[in-house]
Amino acid sequence: MVYRVGLLGLGTVGTGVVQILQRPGHPLLQTVDIAAVGVRSLDKPREVHIPPERLTTDLERIVSDPEIDVVIELMGGIEPARSLILKAVDHGKQVITANKAVIARHGAEIFQAAAQAKVSVLLEAAVAGGIPILQPLQHSLRASRIEAVWGIVNGTTNFILSQMTQEGSSFEEALAVAQARGYAEADPGADVEGWDAADKIAILASLAFGLPVARDQIPCEGIRGISATDIRYAREWGFTFKLLAIAQKAGPSRLDIRVHPTLLPSTHALAGVSGVENAVLVQGDPLGQVVLSGPGAGQGPTASAVVGDLLSLIAHLQTGAQVPNPLWGFPPASAFPPADAESAELPALIPLAELEAEFYVRVLAQDRPGVIGAIGTCFGNHQVSLESITQKECHREQAEIVILTHTVREADCQQAIAEIRQLPQVAGIPAVFRVLR
Ligand SMILES: NC(=O)c1ccc[n+]([C@@H]2O[C@H](COP(=O)([O-])OP(=O)(O)OC[C@H]3O[C@@H](n4cnc5c(N)ncnc54)[C@H](OP(=O)(O)O)[C@@H]3O)[C@@H](O)[C@H]2O)c1
Repeated sequence: MVYRVGLLGLGTVGTGVVQILQRPGHPLLQTVDIAAVGVRSLDKPREVHIPPERLTTDLERIVSDPEIDVVIELMGGIEPARSLILKAVDHGKQVITANKAVIARHGAEIFQAAAQAKVSVLLEAAVAGGIPILQPLQHSLRASRIEAVWGIVNGTTNFILSQMTQEGSSFEEALAVAQARGYAEADPGADVEGWDAADKIAILASLAFGLPVARDQIPCEGIRGISATDIRYAREWGFTFKLLAIAQKAGPSRLDIRVHPTLLPSTHALAGVSGVENAVLVQGDPLGQVVLSGPGAGQGPTASAVVGDLLSLIAHLQTGAQVPNPLWGFPPASAFPPADAESAELPALIPLAELEAEFYVRVLAQDRPGVIGAIGTCFGNHQVSLESITQKECHREQAEIVILTHTVREADCQQAIAEIRQLPQVAGIPAVFRVLR
C-alpha cells in the first residue's frame, strides 16, 4: 500500500521532511508518495527536487483531493493554516502539523472535528522540536498523576540568556549574536516576549491535564528586562536565569500556567540546559521527575519529529487502526477528580497575584544612611520577610540594593514594591524576578 502525502509548505521544516523521505533506503520510501506540495511561490529555488507538476499554490485543492491520504501542514501562522487543517479533517484526511500557534489557539476545535471525522491530528513537532514529549505525555507517562510540567521551550531566548551568562553581554548584544547565527528572527518579538513559549505551554498543559487551556489567559513575561547586572548578581548567589514555561496543579480544579524569566538554583535539573537546547521536566506521582532535553528547533530535529508522526500514523493505518488523538477535552482519569473531568470546561487559571515565590528585587536609591531600613520597612508592612538585603555597587551617589525575599505571596511583594517606588530616596526598581527551586 502506498500512502499519498500532501505537504503544505516547503520551507525550513518542509524541506527537512522531504530530505528524510528521499533518503535512500529509508523504510518509508516504499510506502510514501509525496503527491503534492503547496507553496506560496512557484519560482523560488528549492533545496530538494519536487517534480514541477506536483508543486502548486492551490493548497485548497491539496486538502480536498480524494487521492491524498495524509496532509502535513508546515506553513505556519494561524490562517489559512487553521482552515486548511479543518478542511483536510473534513475530507477524512489524517493530519500532521508542527504549528504550535494554531494548536494552542484552536486545538479544541481541531480535535473535536478530528474525533467526529475519526481521523488523527498528530503534532509532536509543535513543541520542543526534536524532543519527543507530546507522545510520552499521552502514553508512557500517563499512568502517573501529572503534577507539574516545567519547560525551557524556546531555543532563541535560552541562547540569549546563555550568551549573557557566559559572555557577560547585554540583552541587545546577545540578541545580535542570535540573529547573526540564524537563531533569532529579524523581528524577535514572539520569542523574546515569551509568546512562543506560551503557545507551547498551552499545548503541554492541555495534554498533561486533559483539558483545553485558554491561551490568551496565560500570563507571559519576556526576557527584555534582564540586564547583564542581574545575571551577574544572580550568579554570585548561585542562580541561573531561565525563561520558564510552567504548568502545574494549584488545588483541586485550578491550574497555574505562566511564562516568565526565573532564577533557578544552578544545581537545578533545568539550569544546565544551555544554548538553543530545550528541556521539559515532568513531575508526576508516583513517577517522580523526568527530564527530556535536546534540540528544540531547527530543520533536522523538527523534520525528524514530523516524520516520526508519519511513521506512527502509517504503522496504525496498516493495521486499520486510528492513532489516538491527543486528550484535548477528554481528560485522563488521573488528571483531575471526576467532577472537573466530566465538565471538560476550561480550567480556571490561578492569577499571578495569588501565587507564592521568592523574589529577587534590584533597587536604585540614594547612597544615604537609612535607605536600607526604609526599604526593609516597606517589605515588612506587607508581610514580606527578607532572606537578604545587600548594597552592591555605587555610581554617582546612587546605590544598587539587591534583595532576596523568602517565599511570599506575589500580591504582597508587588504592594511592597509599589510602596518602595514612592520613597523619596528611591530612583527606580529596574528588576523584579521570581526565584523558583
Ligand atoms: N523552523 C523550525 O525550527 C521550527 C521548529 C518547530 C516548529 N516549527 C513550525 O513548523 C512550521 C513551519 O516552519 P518553517 O520554519 O518551515 O517555516 P518557513 O520556512 O517560513 O516555511 C513556510 C512554508 O510555507 C509556505 N507558505 C506559507 N504561507 C503560505 C500560504 N499562505 N500559501 C502557500 N504557502 C504558504 C511557504 O511557501 P514559500 O516557500 O513559497 O514561501 C514556505 O514553503 C511552523 O508552524 C513553525 O512554527 C518550525
